Amino acid sequence: MKKTVIYPGSFDPLTNGHINIIKRAAKTFDEVIIAVAINSNKNSIMSVDERVNTIKSIFKNSKKIKIDKFSGLLVKYAKSKKVNTIIRGMRTVQDFEYELQMATSNNKLDQAIETVFMVADANYAHISSSLIKDIIKLGGSAKEFVHPKVESELKKILKKRK
Ligand code: PNS
Repeated sequence: MKKTVIYPGSFDPLTNGHINIIKRAAKTFDEVIIAVAINSNKNSIMSVDERVNTIKSIFKNSKKIKIDKFSGLLVKYAKSKKVNTIIRGMRTVQDFEYELQMATSNNKLDQAIETVFMVADANYAHISSSLIKDIIKLGGSAKEFVHPKVESELKKILKKRK
């Protein structure tokens, strides 16, 4: 039986840390669905469609990796996809509390749902989307932290905003 995992997140923007988790998850599972959460966060830098399209272009040659967006409860989305496993990356001890709360709540909402954690590669443990957002908004370069396609998309977005 095909084992699929959902990798949910805001991905605003997708970082090299996320890409590392996605590639490793694709080695462990038969299929990875990257699920971009649709939320009305006014602080976002990319629209949900910009995120989805950029991620699609990065993984266009990976048959095992699918990209989707979802709104509402993650457990409901997972059920609609007939997937019971969620994967999240764990970078530091600071992540643990938030991740524990989410994993436990999701399991309480639907006991069929299991969350597995993948420890972040030490090379990426310092990277976060919010840090990158700050760097970009303050005119710095995110080259070190994101895929070239994300970087050029971010540059385009900022240019339009000016
Ligand atoms: O990348 P993020 O922002 O840490 O991802 C958080 C995300 C999108 C996975 C989480 O907020 C989520 O699952 N949102 C969907 C709504 C939901 O199900 N909330 C209850 C989770 S306990």
